Amino acid sequence: MSEYIIVQKGNPLVGEVQIEGAKNAVLPIMAASLLAKGSSVSLERVPLLTDVQTMAAVLSNLGARVMHSENNMEIMIPEKLQTQTPEHLISKMRASILVMGALLTREGKASVVMPGGCAIGSRPLDIHLRGFEALGAKIQLSHGVIEASVVGRLKGTTYNLGFPSVGATENLMIAATLAEGVTVLQGVAREPEIIDLANFLNAMGAKIHGAGTDIIEIHGVDTLHECQYEILSDRIEAGTFMVAAAITGGDIIIKNIVPDHLQPLTSKLQQIGVEMTVGTDWIGVKGMPSYRAVDIKTGPHPHFPTDMQSQMLALLLCCEGVSTLTETIFENRFMHIEQLNHMGAQITVDANIAIITKQRLHGMRVKATDLRSAAGLVLAGLIADGETKIEQLHHLDRGYVDFVGKLQKLGATISRIER
Ligand code: UD1
Repeated sequence: MSEYIIVQKGNPLVGEVQIEGAKNAVLPIMAASLLAKGSSVSLERVPLLTDVQTMAAVLSNLGARVMHSENNMEIMIPEKLQTQTPEHLISKMRASILVMGALLTREGKASVVMPGGCAIGSRPLDIHLRGFEALGAKIQLSHGVIEASVVGRLKGTTYNLGFPSVGATENLMIAATLAEGVTVLQGVAREPEIIDLANFLNAMGAKIHGAGTDIIEIHGVDTLHECQYEILSDRIEAGTFMVAAAITGGDIIIKNIVPDHLQPLTSKLQQIGVEMTVGTDWIGVKGMPSYRAVDIKTGPHPHFPTDMQSQMLALLLCCEGVSTLTETIFENRFMHIEQLNHMGAQITVDANIAIITKQRLHGMRVKATDLRSAAGLVLAGLIADGETKIEQLHHLDRGYVDFVGKLQKLGATISRIER
């Protein structure tokens, strides 16, 4: 069954919105729970997303029992796990590779099938794999399958990632938790979700220091124990609603968040002229009748998050002057610009720089090209004349819980239609 969203230009959005647990925190935490051999982990504030269901399928496939009710998840981890992650799950969600570190460190081996047969050392996994090798693992590629193995335990070491990959930092942190001796990871990612993973592992008995800085030190332990843990708030969902308030000239209070984690976004919103009030666990965002152009460059935290790029692009279409948005993390993350241009955006792209001027948008039939572009197109639909139809909603469902319902409550003229 295919579904689509119909959104109409409407009133400014007004009201309060509650933010869910973070997709990018819960996925690595679910993978890390595999370390608690013969024990169980209880997670709270788990968002009901298709990516979470995919990770639950990965864990079940490996032998864990996953029970999910409302926002709680119980994971029971057996003494012995399977060590192969099926191709269909890996190709569905790249974050499935986060189980590699856990399998390698507790079972001594892990294998993942790379769709299309990825050569070892090629971009997507090189930082993860070189890290596993530094910890003493042997990496082999045969018939498109990456096999990582180690005789005995992984051994603590010092490893510089070279580039602060979020996934590699997480995979290596998980692997080093049960390694022998001390591991020092240098040049790591500093995203808030890395701190959440470290806090979760420490709650199970790990000894990890420095998460949130660019050096993480991990003192290996022999075993971990059960724990109960509440997932961090989703800064990208929060940021998306902040842009929704700004773009419609509305007034929204975004609740249940860590305002500090949104600083790279709030500073850009302030620069363009959005009014904000920051509380302890909420931010009030008030839209203005006109905004100023700004230059934005995505980068690893604490720079501007690439996951907010598509949503921000829609807002830059409301700014007086010429804005630029430079994407430095993903080479292919401007696919939605074609869709926005179809709506009249007139954005030009020069290599990894998008050049944006103020434009009036027209409602059109558009297709989401990835998770955040789906949100960006809905935001564009809120200000486009007439009606916008957005297709390919499976992208949206990977990362937003009831996006349409939440926007309706804020006063948007939007509906989701099954056909
Ligand atoms: C995570 C987030 C994703 C976010 C991204 C960047 C999760 C589940 N996903 O993805 O939402 O957009 O961080 O903030 O948390 N790279 C290599 N070699 C590697 C690993 C990565 O070259 O071994 C490259 C990637 O191709 C990409 C860049 O580094 O161009 C960033 O990737 P990374 O930080 O690893 O992102 P993910 O962990 O995949």
